[in-house]
Amino acid sequence: MLVSLSLDKSFSKDVAIMVDVLRASTTITAALNNFNTVMAVKDKNKAIELAKKYNAVLAGERDGAPITGFDAGNSPVSIKNFKGDTLVLTTTNGTRILEGMKAKSLIGSFVNAKAVALKAAELADNHIEIVMAGVRGRFAIEDFLGAGEIISYLKNCELDEMALAAYMASRNDEMVKNAVVNSNSALGLQKLGFLDDITFSIKKNIYDIIPIYEKHIIKKIND
Ligand code: MLT
Repeated sequence: MLVSLSLDKSFSKDVAIMVDVLRASTTITAALNNFNTVMAVKDKNKAIELAKKYNAVLAGERDGAPITGFDAGNSPVSIKNFKGDTLVLTTTNGTRILEGMKAKSLIGSFVNAKAVALKAAELADNHIEIVMAGVRGRFAIEDFLGAGEIISYLKNCELDEMALAAYMASRNDEMVKNAVVNSNSALGLQKLGFLDDITFSIKKNIYDIIPIYEKHIIKKIND
């Protein structure tokens, strides 16, 4: 089984895992504790339209800040205060990446790393691609380290060099925490007052929820 790592774009036709640690992957996983369905779209107006059509809770951010007029931002901590059947979510990177994925698409981060890794190994024929969301196409260290954590549960796999580098870089918990907390994304979120989201997003394996994405619809894989 080959494990590869890519940034911003997905190339796999087998199984792929979208990793946006701060914060889309973490928020989507937390939200599936309180919602049956998350609808993920990159376009803000489409999100508003869908929320009206499905009488859904409307959540989203642009450059970290909650979108004016929406019920919620993209906070994995505050999303737990909402309940319902459907949540519509639009974000700067994570939901945009999902729209470009063609493979069986799972969503992973630190909070569900082990569960999503084992499910990917179960579903894949011969290739698991981990897609780092990054920030507008640029590398984001938190996604690299989150990918490394997921890769650590993929035993007896052939890692491409990017995947091997992520695995090696994610072996020291203290260094990983410091790197994520001091990352560009985290410093931006701290300025916006979302320190709790960062602390929450680096918790390991607090969920065994495995989100699966297909044509804007995200559900728990076992639902
Ligand atoms: C994104 O999808 O761009 C991120 O999750 C942004 C954020 O939550 O700040």
